[in-house]
Amino acid sequence: MGPAVVTVETSAFDGQKPGTSGLRKKTTVFQQEHYVENFVQATLSAVGEDVLRGKELVVGGDGRFYNDVMIQKILRICAANGVGKVVVGQHGLLSTPAVSALIRSLGSAGGFILTASHNPGGADNDCGIKYNVSNGGPAPEGVTAKIFDNTKTISSYKTVEGMADVDLATCGVTAVEVLDGFTVEVVDSTTNYVELMDKVFDLSAIKSLLSRPDFEFTYDGMHGVAGPYARRIFHEELGVPLASLHNCEPSETFGGGHPDPNLTYASELVARMGLTSSGAKSGASPDAIPDFGAAADGDADRNMVLGKEFFVTPSDSLAVIAANANCIPFFRDAGGLKSVARSMPTSAAADLVAERNSFPMFQVPTGWKFFGNLMDSGELGKEDLTPLICGEESFGTGSNHIREKDGIWAVLCWLSILAARNEDPAAPLVSVEDIVKDHWSTFGRNYYSRYDYENVESDKAAKVMDGLTAKIKAFKEQGAAALGMDDAPGFEISDCDEFEYFDKVDGSVSSHQGWRFMFADGSRFVFRLSGTGSVGATIRLYIEKYEKDDIDKPTAVALEGLVKVALDFSDLVALTGRKEPTVIT
Ligand code: G6P
Ligand code: ZN
Repeated sequence: MGPAVVTVETSAFDGQKPGTSGLRKKTTVFQQEHYVENFVQATLSAVGEDVLRGKELVVGGDGRFYNDVMIQKILRICAANGVGKVVVGQHGLLSTPAVSALIRSLGSAGGFILTASHNPGGADNDCGIKYNVSNGGPAPEGVTAKIFDNTKTISSYKTVEGMADVDLATCGVTAVEVLDGFTVEVVDSTTNYVELMDKVFDLSAIKSLLSRPDFEFTYDGMHGVAGPYARRIFHEELGVPLASLHNCEPSETFGGGHPDPNLTYASELVARMGLTSSGAKSGASPDAIPDFGAAADGDADRNMVLGKEFFVTPSDSLAVIAANANCIPFFRDAGGLKSVARSMPTSAAADLVAERNSFPMFQVPTGWKFFGNLMDSGELGKEDLTPLICGEESFGTGSNHIREKDGIWAVLCWLSILAARNEDPAAPLVSVEDIVKDHWSTFGRNYYSRYDYENVESDKAAKVMDGLTAKIKAFKEQGAAALGMDDAPGFEISDCDEFEYFDKVDGSVSSHQGWRFMFADGSRFVFRLSGTGSVGATIRLYIEKYEKDDIDKPTAVALEGLVKVALDFSDLVALTGRKEPTVIT
């Protein structure tokens, strides 16, 4: 007997609500019988059997523990639901940006990405699954709401009994005799993505930069899926020695680490670049420090960029890339950048670039999906806003070349800018620090920092947020005097609100997207609850202060007063018992 479609009875699980970036839970939760199957069936049903019948989907992930099991389950459920073909990355590996690129270039109906992004992996850590639609971007709210509804009422799913595991180690096509025929094609994980990067960038200009004897490049894949892409692009295409590419072998547990490219978790790279976890110089000998360093998170959509003894904040990175977009063929050939977008908590550095160039600037809630509508506005019958560059303070940068943020792309943007500034091989090297400081002297500097309080008990976090809501209400009703800030001279709140976004492209409204407190001089602090944690609540505090001329202070010094005001104002320390944040970026 060959493989046969069967209907398996199941019952609903609580809490299968896809968050900012899909469903993310402890691995042990995913390992429960029927858990993955329920979610995948709920997703396919939400997208619609009629839409998917005979069509193609893409599947791949960041290589974390349990992905291999999940992929085989997905293949069986897809086959049973009438999907025609699934394209899988070799060994099940595809970065999030590579899935987005693949869906777009193959014209697939959508895809599943198996990742919990920057969360640690392994039996005791996290797993995740997310569905992207045919434009290559995360499923919009309408679809995720339907998925969630389906997970609450599901009573059975379809799968294929007697279907052997598909060999994911070898590229090629496997046909399974089931329904109208079902095939799985295993593809090289990097080829399609590398072809795209070759179109977006002038790789030969970057190669000249990288071959300069006075320019040393280093990359940290953080044991995630960025590794194979880094080896293929930086080593094979651009000639960087393999010895400069660290942690580029994907590991099921990310080498036991936390695959998040920030000053705290990318400590190996940060030390190699001559910095400490607070971004201060470590005192290492500058001669031994590379000129450029970068890292990615588990699924390679985030990036951190460092110069020699110099940290580039993600907000500044966005602004610098936008200001120099014409160094990059993708933007230059399209007649130049048309608009810039950032998430609300990201600093206003990019706004200044937009203002100077008279681009429209969009401020959206946290979450990459909000950028997608702006990118597709032309197709939705509104003004075409592309090419568009967008970014988030959470180490995400990207453009309309795909519909996800893109860690390797961001590094190639920086290398393109460096290549353009260093065209004369005989002239002294213009460094990352030089480029950022030039930028500040033109636009002024948005000093910026984020404090994260991870794993706070949910009820305590709620108390902090309720307090802030009450303060906003008091301000609206009685003005600044009602805020009791007499002991903070020089800090008068000029406005505050809970951020709400009206999406002009599709008319949707997103409310309660963060508590904002603004000062007359353009400074602000913002509180938000993270949408990506898997236990308890993570409180984020974002602090920003603009200086036109005083651009050379350490960030911690520039922001000291404002941090104190924000902490006093929110009563965070007393309400949560947390004296210090878990991470400062
Ligand atoms: C993911 C999303 C981003 C978002 C980030 C931070 O990486 O793709 O769009 O900015 O999470 O989310 P959080 O809710 O944890 O601050
Ligand atoms: Zn990620």
